[in-house]
Amino acid sequence: MAVAVHRTIAGRSLGGCRMWHYATADDAVADVERLASSMSSKAAAAGLGIGGGKGVVALPDTAPDPEQRRDALHDFADLVESFGGRYFTAQDVGVTLEDVVFMAGFTDYVTGHPVEDGGSGDPSPYTAHGVEIAIRASLGGRPLEGRRIVVVGLGHVGGELARRLARAGARLAVSDVDPRRRELADELGAEWVADPAEALFLDADLIAPCALGGVLDEESVPRLNAPVVAGAANNQLAHDGIGELLHDRGVLWAPDFVANAGGLIAVSDELHGFDRARVERRIAAIGDTLGEVYARTTTSTLAAAKELAAERLGTA
Ligand SMILES: NC(=O)c1ccc[n+]([C@@H]2O[C@H](COP(=O)([O-])OP(=O)(O)OC[C@H]3O[C@@H](n4cnc5c(N)ncnc54)[C@H](O)[C@@H]3O)[C@@H](O)[C@H]2O)c1
Repeated sequence: MAVAVHRTIAGRSLGGCRMWHYATADDAVADVERLASSMSSKAAAAGLGIGGGKGVVALPDTAPDPEQRRDALHDFADLVESFGGRYFTAQDVGVTLEDVVFMAGFTDYVTGHPVEDGGSGDPSPYTAHGVEIAIRASLGGRPLEGRRIVVVGLGHVGGELARRLARAGARLAVSDVDPRRRELADELGAEWVADPAEALFLDADLIAPCALGGVLDEESVPRLNAPVVAGAANNQLAHDGIGELLHDRGVLWAPDFVANAGGLIAVSDELHGFDRARVERRIAAIGDTLGEVYARTTTSTLAAAKELAAERLGTA
């Protein structure tokens, strides 16, 4: 397991704990470092006044039994505690709200507590809400009705996003490596795309990557058939140069760390005493931030978003 603190502001950094499979320990460390850095950009772009950190717990090849899993979470909580408040942890891929409650028994430096304890609860619905706002801003603020939108990854965020888009009248196509997610597609009357590798390349108004990162690279970008990409997945670009590739191809990409900030906005709010109205205001501002990013883009939306984040950090 590893914790990376990319930056502290007023002595604090924040970012969820991810439980995931890694081929090597070096891969896990590289991932936690990259994720912590993007948490810094995310917090800065959203003007949250906190630095970026992240944790990973690398899973063994065979699924751990419940007791081993609890022991690992206990160890991770002790590791968080050892940072003395410089790193706050929360939920991320592979970690549940119950896990957060469990870890809070061993360290105070946990955010995203259950709603009944005065916390934000599961951050995913907030993230999905923010991504919907990002999608609307990226489509020029026009109604979503009749727009063909492809959601790739129907997990906590992608599933809730698909529900929201269906309610708004979008023509949905959805995909997931887990065939059980087809149930949700049927429930929403969405087209089910059996091969998630192909979903990215469908003819559509917008693609929303909501699974894991790295999906946009030298091979996938030339094959895109949608003018806009805006989704929840962290680190969608294989590397920063892909930002220019997207721009040169005329694809409008909503920088992930701006679009998916809703969850961070919610869990970080606990540090000031959770206030739902303040959280909703900040999530609504994701649309304005993206508008500013698009207006100032010259070489890539990534460069523009990083520039904006750096400016906001200067005033944080
Ligand atoms: N949960 C949050 O609040 C939050 C906040 C910010 C960013 N994110 C990012 O959003 C993404 C999704 O998060 P989540 O919480 O919904 O995770 P999740 O684990 O609940 O869902 C991920 C889904 O993607 C599917 N999937 C995995 N590989 C796939 C592939 N190659 N093609 C298609 N589907 C695939 C999984 O089966 C699963 O249904 C992650 O990149 C996460 O880091 C999440």
